[in-house]
Amino acid sequence: MAHNVKTGKTQAGDEVIMGPTGRPYHGFDTPKKLDQHGPARIIALCNQKGGVGKTTTSINLAAALAGYGRKVLAVDFDPQGALSAGLGVATHDVPTVYDLLLDPKRDAHEVIVETAVEGLDILPANIDLSAAEVHLVNEVAREMILSRVLRQVAGEYDVILIDCQPSLGLLTVNALTASHGVLIPLECEFFALRGVALLIETIDKVRDRLNPSIELDGVLATMYDPRTLHSREVLERVVDAFGDDVLETVIGRTVKFPDASVAGMPITEFAPEHPAAQAYLRLARELVSRGAVA
Ligand SMILES: Nc1ncnc2c1ncn2[C@@H]1O[C@H](COP(=O)(O)OP(=O)(O)OP(=O)(O)O)[C@@H](O)[C@H]1O
Ligand SMILES: [Mg+2]
Repeated sequence: MAHNVKTGKTQAGDEVIMGPTGRPYHGFDTPKKLDQHGPARIIALCNQKGGVGKTTTSINLAAALAGYGRKVLAVDFDPQGALSAGLGVATHDVPTVYDLLLDPKRDAHEVIVETAVEGLDILPANIDLSAAEVHLVNEVAREMILSRVLRQVAGEYDVILIDCQPSLGLLTVNALTASHGVLIPLECEFFALRGVALLIETIDKVRDRLNPSIELDGVLATMYDPRTLHSREVLERVVDAFGDDVLETVIGRTVKFPDASVAGMPITEFAPEHPAAQAYLRLARELVSRGAVA
C-alpha cells in the first residue's frame, strides 16, 4: 500500500490518511457478537461482465462474515460451479440448487452442505443449472422461484450471498428478486463501466416490477493495482459515477486468489495474514457498519 498513502485534511483541519476512493481511511469496528441468528439479509453479487470477482468476493466475504460469528449461506447460482469448487465442495452426483428450482417443495435442507469453514454453508450448483432458464421460462411466477426456495431457510442464517452468473438472464433476475440488496463488483480495468448502465437498468426494472425494496448495497472495486496510473484512473471514474455507493474497501490484485481457489479454500483461511485476506475482513466489517449485514 506504500504507493498509495495519501493524506488529506478533515474539516477540523486534522491530517488524515486517505483511502484509495478519496475518503479518509477507516478500519471499521469489529462487529458485535450476535445473540441470536436470522432472519437473513439476502445479497446478490451481480455483474453480467465475466471475471470481475463475483465468485471470489462471494467466497471470501462469506468466510469473513462467518469468521465474525455470522451464520452464512453461500448460494452458487452459476452453472460453472466455481463457488462450490472454491469452497472445496463436490458437485458431481449430488443434489443442487437446480433440483430445488425444479421442485420448490423439495426441502432445501437436504441440499445445503456445510463447508470446512465454521458457520458457512453452501447451496451448490453444477452444470445442470444451465438447463434451468429453459425449464423455468414457462413457469408461473418464474422470476420468484429462488425467492421461494430461500424462504425455507432464511430464518436460520444472518446473511445469504448469491453468486450470480455473468448474464442478466432469468437466473440473475431470480437472484435479484430474492434479494434485499445487491453488491456490484467492478474490476479496475478498461471497460469496467461498460455494461454497468444496463445492469443498473435491470436492477431498476426488478425494483419496479418484482421486488420494490431491493437496494444497491455497494459497488466494490476489485483487482486494484495502486502502482498503475490506469487502475487509479479507473477507480476515480467509478467514484465519479457512483459516489458514496463505492465501498471504501478496495480489493487489490494478487495471485493469492487463484492459488486459494486451487486449494479450494477462502483466502481468509489459506493466507489469513495476506493483505487480500485482510481486505475481505475489512469489507465484512464495512458492510456490517453500513447495516447491509447484521
Ligand atoms: N483481486 C484479485 N486479484 C487477482 N486475481 C483475482 C482477484 N479476484 C479474482 N481474481 C481471479 O480472477 C478470476 C475471475 O475471478 P472470479 O471468478 O471471482 O470472477 P467472476 O466475476 O465470478 O467470474 P465469472 O463471471 O466467470 O463468474 C479468477 O481466476 C480469480 O481467481
Ligand atoms: Mg463467478
